[in-house]
Parts: sequence; structure tokens; C-alpha cells
Amino acid sequence: MDSTEKKSGDVESLDLIIVGAGISGINCAYRLQTKLPQVTFTIFENRTSIGGTWDLFKYPGIRSDSDLHTFGFSWHPWPHPSPIAEGDLIISYMKESVAAHGLDKYINFKHKVVSADWSSKTNRWTVAVENEGVTKRYTSRFMVLGAGYYDYNQPLKVEIPGLSNFRGKIIHPQFWPTDYDHTDKKIVVIGSGATAITLIPALAKTAAHVTMLQRSPSYIVSQPQQWSSPWTGPKWSHKIWPRSILGTIKRLYFMWTTHWFATLCRWFPKRMKEMVKKATLVQLPPRLKWDPHFSPAYYPWQQRLCLAPDGDFFKALHTPKADVVTGHIRTVTEDGIELTDGTKLDADVVVTATGLRMLFGGGIPLQVDGERIDTAKQILWNGAMVQDIPNLFYMIGYTNASWTLGSDETAFIICRLLKYMERKGIQVSVPRAPRDHQMKPRSSWQLTSTYVKAAEERFPKSGDQGPWRPRRHVPNDWAHARWGNITDGLHFTA
Ligand SMILES: Cc1cc2nc3c(=O)[nH]c(=O)nc-3n(C[C@H](O)[C@H](O)[C@H](O)COP(=O)(O)OP(=O)(O)OC[C@H]3O[C@@H](n4cnc5c(N)ncnc54)[C@H](O)[C@@H]3O)c2cc1C
Ligand SMILES: *[C@@H]1O[C@H](CO)[C@@H](O)[C@H](O)[C@H]1NC(C)=O
Ligand SMILES: *[C@@H]1O[C@H](CO)[C@@H](O)[C@H](O)[C@H]1NC(C)=O
Ligand SMILES: *[C@@H]1O[C@H](CO)[C@@H](O)[C@H](O)[C@H]1NC(C)=O
Repeated sequence: MDSTEKKSGDVESLDLIIVGAGISGINCAYRLQTKLPQVTFTIFENRTSIGGTWDLFKYPGIRSDSDLHTFGFSWHPWPHPSPIAEGDLIISYMKESVAAHGLDKYINFKHKVVSADWSSKTNRWTVAVENEGVTKRYTSRFMVLGAGYYDYNQPLKVEIPGLSNFRGKIIHPQFWPTDYDHTDKKIVVIGSGATAITLIPALAKTAAHVTMLQRSPSYIVSQPQQWSSPWTGPKWSHKIWPRSILGTIKRLYFMWTTHWFATLCRWFPKRMKEMVKKATLVQLPPRLKWDPHFSPAYYPWQQRLCLAPDGDFFKALHTPKADVVTGHIRTVTEDGIELTDGTKLDADVVVTATGLRMLFGGGIPLQVDGERIDTAKQILWNGAMVQDIPNLFYMIGYTNASWTLGSDETAFIICRLLKYMERKGIQVSVPRAPRDHQMKPRSSWQLTSTYVKAAEERFPKSGDQGPWRPRRHVPNDWAHARWGNITDGLHFTA
């Protein structure tokens, strides 16, 4: 098992290994480089480019639904005026940030981590990495999983009755064929999440017709892109504020507005529902009614809220080329879809926007002293480490705020803990839950979406006390990551 005991010549030894060069891995690299310059580390990235999610998804219109002022890096403020951005722009921003801070040198592309084993004899991880068919081993004191939260190889499998009958083209948004021309095609998009809501206006530009076919609706909120806060909105604000200060102002502004919107949804669910309903009604064409097409069975923010920049989704519905249908599929036929109420939708293309298959830590098998750890049975410490796994960090972000705000908190906790260990001469940190704990496991996600529910049993849970609780909200967690107690719940070995 222990490859450090094999010929030492072919094993490279590091302080820390980061898996993944998505936004979380890159942010972590920046934090390590600036706060702990003496730590040697490297990033292994399976793909040929940085960006993770934004490099994988190529469907028409692909964009963020968070503002980039908080989704982007705090150390490289988002330079564009519009807060929502398309995938390409996010990628070029990430590349620019990496180049500006010399982070390229840490990234190894086409390096896929296939296993990781902790040895208590050597107090090190041994990480097997595949590069162009050759597997090489590396050892490190620490490992950071920045591998995202879903399966890159396969989307969520959803039973769609009769799909195999279909003679036209079936596309899953995770694997959009970028060379496929959908001009003048009749398209049915199955789903009602962020992806479907992004696709409808984008496809309607050239398709003959596009229908969003949903089983149940989601909340859709329009957001003006010429943001009109008195501080940051007007064009002239770019001239008077230096870029770094403007970046901070915008960041705080978006952090607080998003936070308060989500908080108000929790405090006053009925009133917020009415508010969203009113805002939606004025944007609907007369042929579409609130009920059943836009009235979810849950309150706002119990599931991820969908965003329509400048109301693009609703604008598309005012043209004859886009429509929403709510109903259940009886069967897919050779040339369309039949619903249980008898409706028939013709289609040349069916897009299955039915969600992601969530996956913990890139699916990398983790072993501690030769024993495979079932992470689904474990609870998370401060949302950043997994119970009983030594010197391993895990990067997840928020689902009701920008993801990056959460993974940056983890990066802060990592840097502080590494400094603390260095100062005290500690080799190993491992989260240990109190033996007699009566903790009720809680979901770490707290969203009721289908794809989240489907995955929960495969993910570590959170507890209900102390450092085992899930993240709460940005202002609280932001402060905790910087100044809070980060030794509570950890067991240290010199
Ligand atoms: C279409 C879409 C839109 C989204 N929009 C938003 C949004 O607007 N706001 C928001 O907050 N969140 C959004 N999200 C969630 C989004 O995924 C995260 O916000 C963020 O991009 C995740 O970054 P990450 O670095 O944690 O993971 P990822 O972007 O998933 O990157 C993980 C990286 O790890 C690599 N990797 C995985 N396994 C291995 C392995 N074994 N070896 C080596 N490398 C490996 C992958 O190749 C990938 O590059 C969106 C998600 C999707 C799918
Ligand atoms: C790794 O990359 C290869 C080639 O780009 C891809 O086929 C595979 O699905 C990726 N695997 C993971 C786990 O991301
Ligand atoms: C966001 O979600 C977390 C759970 O992930 C929850 O505890 C928190 O209250 C939510 N934040 C707001 C502002 O509603
Ligand atoms: C952190 O919490 C632990 C356990 O509750 C406690 O022993 C320790 O003194 C705390 N550290 C600080 C700096 O408050």
C-alpha cells in the first residue's frame, strides 16, 4: 500500500496537493501562495484547461446566475460592468486572474487523480495520478479536494418514458455538441431549472420554435444588468473609484443584497412569494398564466432561484417562438412528445435539462491506513474537513449565495490551520466527533431540489452542534473563517 516505502526515486514529495483547477482550486492556490509562501504545492487537473464547470458546459447561452462581483475572486475584482456573465467571459477572466498572479506554474493539466491513501506511519497522503496513460505517485502532507460536486462523466439519469423511440436528436446540456446547428429546428427542452431557463431565450434566437416542458415550475426573477445602485451603477463610478475600491464596494453591495433577499425569503416566505408573483405577472404574455406555469409548490429559496438577466426569458415568451408547457410525459414518440393530458409536442430535438449527478470529491476513492472510507457516513467539520480523515480538506461553496464565497472561507481555514500546526509542531489534524454524540445528521445542502435529494445519501452530512454544523450565512461564516475557533473538534498529533 505504502508507496513511499518503494523506490523513492519515482515518488515526488510535496507539502500539499490540490485536486482541480476550477474556481475553488485556483482560489485556494492564490491564498496559499500569498499567505504561506514556504508551502510547496501543486494542482492536478484532469482537463486541458482551467475553469472546471465553465470549461465543461458549452450549451447556448451558458452563463452564471450569480453576480461575478462575488462569484469572482476578491483578489482580482471582476472588471466588467455587467454582473452576470456568459461562460466564455468567465473563462477568460479566470485565465487573466491566473496569469496576473503567476498561478500557472502550479497547474498540471491532463493529470487525473485516481486514488488517495493516507498512511499513519508516514503521516502522508500517497496520491496516484494518471497522465497520458501513465500512473505516477506523489506524496504530500495535505490534500485539498477542489473537484467540484458533480460527476463530469455522466449527467443525472432520469427516466423519460419512450425516449428511445425518438428519431430526432437528443442532447444533454452537459455534453452540448458545439458543432450542431439548431437553426430552424423545433426544440423541446425538458426541465425547469437554471439550465432550461438559460436555454430558452438563447435557442429561440434561431430555432423554429422552442418549448420548455416542465413537470413543475421554478421561481424566475429578472435582474437588470445595468445595475443602478447609487454607488456602483452609473458608468461614471468607474472613473472616480480606483478599480480595487470599486471592486470591494460592489462585492459588499452584492453580498448584502443577496444575503438579505435570501434572509427575507426565510423570514417572510408568504410575502416574498407574493412579491415574486407580482414581478412575474407583469412580465408574462397574456396566453401564459401564473398557475400552473410559474407557481412552484415551495417558497422562494427552498430551491435554487432562477435568474433572468434583463428578463430575457420573459421577453422570449412574448415572441411566437418560445413557449412553456407544464405537464407529465406519457411517452416520447418518433417525432415528438405526448403528455398525459393528450397534448402533443412536435420536436426535431429533445434537450434533457434534467440536472447533474452529484458526486463527492470527484469520486476519488479515499483510504486511511488501507481502509476505504465511506464518506457518506461521515460528517463535515466546519464544512471543510471530513470526520476521521486526516489532513484532507474539501471545498464546497454556497448554493444560496455565490459558490466562491464559501470555498474562499475554506481556503482561509486551511491557511490558518496550516500556520497553527506549523507553530505548534503538529503533523496531523483529524476531525473527531465526540464519541457519545447524539447529533442528528443534517443535510449540508438544505435545498429540496430533486437532484440534491437524489444525491444526499452519497454525501457527507453535517451535524447540529459546534463545528459540525453546516455553514450558516455569509457574514457569520466569513468572520468565523478569519477569526473563529478552528481547533474545536480537531484531534492533533505531533
Ligand atoms: C451550468 C452551471 C452554472 C452554474 N452557475 C453558478 C453560478 O452562477 N453561481 C454559483 O455560485 N455557482 C454556479 N454553479 C455551481 C458551480 O459549479 C460552482 O459555482 C463552481 O464553478 C464550482 O467550482 P469548483 O472549482 O468548486 O468546481 P468545478 O468547477 O466543478 O471544478 C472542478 C475541477 O476539478 C477537476 N477534477 C475533478 N475530478 C478530478 C480528478 N479526479 N483529478 C483531477 N482533476 C479533477 C475537474 O476537471 C474540474 O476542472 C453552476 C454550475 C453549473 C453546472
Ligand atoms: C477526464 O478527462 C477526460 C478527457 O478530457 C474525460 O473523458 C473524463 O471524463 C474526465 N474525467 C473526469 C473524472 O473528470
Ligand atoms: C443559506 O443556506 C444555508 C444552508 O446551506 C442556510 O443555513 C442559510 O440560512 C441560508 N442563508 C440565507 C441567507 O437564507
Ligand atoms: C477552541 O475550542 C476548544 C474546544 O472547545 C477550546 O479548548 C479552545 O480553548 C478554543 N480556542 C480558542 C482560541 O478559543
